[in-house]
Amino acid sequence: MTGTPGGEASLDAFFAGLDRLEADAAAALVGAADEAAVEAARVEFLGARSGRLKAIQKALGGVSQADRPAAGRRFNEAKAAVADLLAAAQARVRAVATPAAPPLDVTLPGPAVPRGRLHPLTQTIRRVQEIMGRLGFEGVDGPEVEDQWHNFEALAIPAEHPARDPLDNFYLATAGFAAGRGGTMPDAVNPLLLRSQTSTVQIRVMEQRRPPLRIVSLGRVYRPDTADATHYPMFHQVEGLLVEPGTTMAHLKSVLRLFASSFLGGDVHVRFRPSFFPFTEPSVEVDMEWGGRWVEMGGAGMVDPAVLAAVGYDPDEVTGFAFGLGVERIAARRHGIDDIRDFYRNDVRFLRQFPGS
Ligand code: DAH
Repeated sequence: MTGTPGGEASLDAFFAGLDRLEADAAAALVGAADEAAVEAARVEFLGARSGRLKAIQKALGGVSQADRPAAGRRFNEAKAAVADLLAAAQARVRAVATPAAPPLDVTLPGPAVPRGRLHPLTQTIRRVQEIMGRLGFEGVDGPEVEDQWHNFEALAIPAEHPARDPLDNFYLATAGFAAGRGGTMPDAVNPLLLRSQTSTVQIRVMEQRRPPLRIVSLGRVYRPDTADATHYPMFHQVEGLLVEPGTTMAHLKSVLRLFASSFLGGDVHVRFRPSFFPFTEPSVEVDMEWGGRWVEMGGAGMVDPAVLAAVGYDPDEVTGFAFGLGVERIAARRHGIDDIRDFYRNDVRFLRQFPGS
């Protein structure tokens, strides 16, 4: 039949070519064992340049005009059939390549949950509490929102004192009468404020209790300072108060030196420089020397008789000392940190360096 003019024979040959191609493609794709074999078959049959289907498509041009529609239809059928075979083969080898997940082994350890850690300032606060506790100081707390009496008046800081300046404090806009808060003035002239010092806690404790007293209070204080390497509008203080008969500055210095040596480790020297605080007399600045450097850590002194009188103690009978240190400062000193803003940036690369003691 080949070679007969009229195109009949060439249409038969064309169909036969497609039948053969389909059969060969089925054999190759159904038998393909892996992805490489499927890919080789794809190139052989459907390859865009020299695939066998492409060659037959070229032969379509030689089919007579009259036979062209039938030839085209058959060509498209064959092409779709080979494409289906390819898709099925691809899906089959892919399933083999990804084995089903093994059954769950409930005896294996679970996924590790990363453990958090305490903020370096929290670690510092706990350590200070622990050391002071060993020296007999009981930990106490006070409110962060305070009234004029506890933050200033009872601490002998009178109304005209610059420490009460509105620009140096976070006063709160409150209305009404400060009843029950120790104040005797309406809130308009006796506004509440975010406490600017933890010395407030001395007053609160002495109002409630009688001597002997040994207390330590650690907490936040607030001042509208611009943040820089040594200032922040919120920071922490340690407040210590000891009220016992016969207390002297020597006791104060011993306690601070014992504290500093325990906290920083080694022999830490403490130096007092004369200073002034309204609530202590005499008053001193406390410096600590550690690793060859002196650093100012806070203030201290003997509790002023005016303060003792304000809380109802008899200044002729009672003596005591008080001190206030900056928590950020002692933490920075211990860890060699030169910018306290690092404590508040929440950068885990910084925080990770304090795994806890
Ligand atoms: N309250 C002071 C301040 O914030 C620090 C201070 C100084 C506290 C002397 C004291 C003290 O208890 O006796 O600057």
